[in-house]
Amino acid sequence: MEPADLINGGTVAGALDLIQSGDVISTTIYGCEPTLFLSRLHTVASRVERVRLWSLNIMGPYPVMTDNSLKGRIDVCSIFYNASCRAGNPSGRYSLLPLDLHRVGAGIVEALPPTVFVAAVAPPDADGNVYLSLDLEAGWEFMEAADRIIFEINPNIPRVCGETKVPLSRASYWYPSNTPLPNPPPAPAGETERTIAGFVSSLIRDGDCIQLGIGAMPNAVGDALMDKRDLGVHTEMLTSSMGRLIRCGAVTNARKNINPGKAVAAFAWGDQALYDLMRDNPAFCMRRAAYVNNPFQIAQNDNMVSVNAALQIDLTGQICSESIGSRQFSGTGGAADFAYGAFHSRGGRGIIAVTSTARGGTVSRIQPQLSPGSVVSISRNIVDHVVTEYGIARLRGRTVRQRMENLIAVAHPDFRGELRRQAEKLLLL
Ligand code: COA
Repeated sequence: MEPADLINGGTVAGALDLIQSGDVISTTIYGCEPTLFLSRLHTVASRVERVRLWSLNIMGPYPVMTDNSLKGRIDVCSIFYNASCRAGNPSGRYSLLPLDLHRVGAGIVEALPPTVFVAAVAPPDADGNVYLSLDLEAGWEFMEAADRIIFEINPNIPRVCGETKVPLSRASYWYPSNTPLPNPPPAPAGETERTIAGFVSSLIRDGDCIQLGIGAMPNAVGDALMDKRDLGVHTEMLTSSMGRLIRCGAVTNARKNINPGKAVAAFAWGDQALYDLMRDNPAFCMRRAAYVNNPFQIAQNDNMVSVNAALQIDLTGQICSESIGSRQFSGTGGAADFAYGAFHSRGGRGIIAVTSTARGGTVSRIQPQLSPGSVVSISRNIVDHVVTEYGIARLRGRTVRQRMENLIAVAHPDFRGELRRQAEKLLLL
């Protein structure tokens, strides 16, 4: 199919006309966010009520995500809070469904099945297939559940290999778009992040299979791995730094046990250079999160190394990645999936990489106990290494007393004395 044929499609206004009261809308996100649809979805609010919008982590600050006067007309259900959800949460317009990412499709369909699925897709090929190229987290599960499937066809989206191909004929409605692809804001690494990335790099060997998580730290880690050889990628999220690792030859995927020769991921959230690299490139394989994040799949690659960030860690090794006290900050995402998968991989290593302090150095991320209301995103039973700018704390195979010593040794020096006093009081010592 030629791009000129797309003129025969509908318009975003026509797609919005399909939304009715009571609908449950789901979308693709990240590089495949349907930006035209989402930037105008709020305009239907005057004629609908009880519409729910599922957000896996809708990135743009669209009015439908930020305008709390829409409450009761269009509300937001999310598995992962971002700045819009955090700001709007007190209004009661937002609700969180706690889920591990490998369950995202099935879990959402079980909880509140979408009636509408809207995806930004790459244009049809000669056989009439469009491509869910950059976000396969739950697209297939949503398509099975929805009675209306809407495609925003955007030639800027590359066709990417994997479980991405969908016949255009599955669409109830489609329309063309030419919006630029969304990218994450650049997160430049400072001196502290580079020091941590150096410690993490010392734990990663040639031939390892890596996963890098969300936040500033994992990207800094990616940039510290440029001198490695034959790395593999099995990751929830493809990042800009992974694109750089592939371009510089550090990643070849040659030593992977499953999907050898291919970087496997559920979604991509990176710069244009990453999206360009993925175009028709057989070295990439996008699969649904139910496969990519399944801990038992993850564990099939030997030497699987997961690198994720955290907000707070207690002295026994419990990891909170998603709340500040009881205030929901983000979501579990794939943090537990990959910690579990790496823990069970032969030669695998799990790494939690954090700056020792937050809030401009005023708060230690390592605490005697998690703050009241904190969510335990990763059980202490499967935590392996915690890395800060002060070094590496090994937790796997260590008793609570040993863990406490190891964690205090990598806490910021200003907080070590108080951590030890509190640990004695709590009878951890
Ligand atoms: N107490 C109080 N505030 C804290 C804090 C703590 N213990 N830890 C962090 N903060 C503050 C920071 O200071 C920062 O605020 P500021 O910018 O005003 O200073 C804010 O909270 C965000 O912290 P930061 O560490 O910069 O977050 P990040 O953007 O690097 O993201 C996670 C880190 C943990 C939130 C993110 O990785 C996440 O959501 N993880 C869960 C999902 C996951 O790991 N998936 C893995 C597969 S992709």
